[in-house]
Amino acid sequence: MSSVPAIEARGITRVFQSRKGFFYQDVTRTEALRGVDLTIETGEIFGLLGPNGAGKTTLTKILTTLLLPTSGTARVLGLDVTKDTERLRARIGLVLGGERGLYNRISARENLRYFADLYGIPLAEREKRVNEVLEWVGLTWAADRRTEEYSRGMKQKLHIARGILHRPEVLFLDEPTIGLDPKSARETRKLIRSLLGEGVTIFLTTHYMFEAEELCHRIGVLSRGRLAAIDTVAGLRELVGGDRTLEAEDYGFEDSELAAVRHLPGVSKVVSEEYGPVTRLTIRVRTGDLTIDTVRQSLIGHGGLQVRERRTSLEDVYLDLVEEEAR
Ligand SMILES: Nc1ncnc2c1ncn2[C@@H]1O[C@H](COP(=O)(O)OP(=O)(O)O)[C@@H](O)[C@H]1O
Ligand SMILES: [Mg+2]
Repeated sequence: MSSVPAIEARGITRVFQSRKGFFYQDVTRTEALRGVDLTIETGEIFGLLGPNGAGKTTLTKILTTLLLPTSGTARVLGLDVTKDTERLRARIGLVLGGERGLYNRISARENLRYFADLYGIPLAEREKRVNEVLEWVGLTWAADRRTEEYSRGMKQKLHIARGILHRPEVLFLDEPTIGLDPKSARETRKLIRSLLGEGVTIFLTTHYMFEAEELCHRIGVLSRGRLAAIDTVAGLRELVGGDRTLEAEDYGFEDSELAAVRHLPGVSKVVSEEYGPVTRLTIRVRTGDLTIDTVRQSLIGHGGLQVRERRTSLEDVYLDLVEEEAR
């Protein structure tokens, strides 16, 4: 492991100005990133989680030299993303996905040969590398078909093959499973996971909670251009009040009842939400001895109250954090 972090960003901001109207006199200003600090170690798989418009693609583009930050500095493999662009591009890979970035009229193999030349892979090594990556993503059988005949899932595998052709040390994947059917999405996640075994540092963005939870060592929650939190999945659960979540529903709870539940040992947070005539209590509990029965006893006025228990999900964490940030 090297002592230089794989990725280091300090105070990254990015403002987009766009002009509208007949004389382009209306200027709209979007602050896509509002001061992002981030350190990712070598060999880590880091997930940047955030809703649409949070700034995930903007940050990915800045870190991969495709877009300049408005302010702040970022280094990838110790190289400045605004100054050492040439040297950096040779050592990183980017998978943007989607339909773009591949030539449809030629085969997958020809696409990869083209990108191998672009990456400066010596001709003597080219065929070997192309065959290796095709094999690795499981596309050898379709290597000589035109990519216009490829399914979305096959195209995404080809994107990944392209992204790793030059053996990058850091691979960036922007929403790698978006628009894929469940089976292709699963296969794509498997490929991403096995890259880690090859020692590649991975930075991926997603708006799927379970995907971040399944793949990533650490997760950053991006909300409106700011990192609302950055931690391990366990750390994020702890941050929003614990690993256990209890839920109960009934027709209205008194404030005094809520206060009683809030004061039970181990309870860190109680949220009550109205769903039509029904109120749902969500009770976050730090791992401990609090039982469902104890909760039912403090809500004794609600005869036959059903209390369910589940593990706090990353989705709870995400909603809590994004909500807090929006206030
Ligand atoms: N080229 C651009 N011009 C103007 N606004 C942009 C541009 N690119 C992104 N934005 C705006 O910046 C914000 C963040 O966008 P983006 O990074 O694409 O978010 P995400 O990838 O998380 O969905 C959004 O409000 C988006 O509309
Ligand atoms: Mg995006």
